[in-house]
Amino acid sequence: AAPTDHESEAATISQGAVEKNHAGFSGTGFVNFDNVVGSYVEYTVNAAQAGTQTLTFRYANGTTIDRPVSLSVNGTAAGTLSFPGTGAWTTWKTVTKDVALAAGANKIRTTATTANGGPNADKLTASGVTDAEAPTP
Ligand code: GCU
Repeated sequence: AAPTDHESEAATISQGAVEKNHAGFSGTGFVNFDNVVGSYVEYTVNAAQAGTQTLTFRYANGTTIDRPVSLSVNGTAAGTLSFPGTGAWTTWKTVTKDVALAAGANKIRTTATTANGGPNADKLTASGVTDAEAPTP
């Protein structure tokens, strides 16, 4: 894992499980969102200064159906993200989105919007962010 990786398995998880049964993840695992509307993963990233930054979510979706999530930053809706099929649960791809971050800690939450839940979530990285969320060994 890179020094600025925010691993999903170290984030705040509601209705999801840390798993490691599909190879290719970084860190010690990934989060399998429960297949329900409302399951979420919330990352905390510390931005050096306020401004627009690029969020990069690494994920896998072994189905052919999109697993969209709603995005919020510090509790404010910040659009939706599409996580289309990657071909296999072991094939990991990235989706990016530019968002406005505040200086200091930012809570970035991805919440499933369909009954299929979210994708398998590996990690979040963000430009302008120098800290990391590593799993507890
Ligand atoms: C399978 C797969 C899981 C995935 C799940 C899903 O069970 O092994 O990793 O999360 O499908 O459809 O969400």
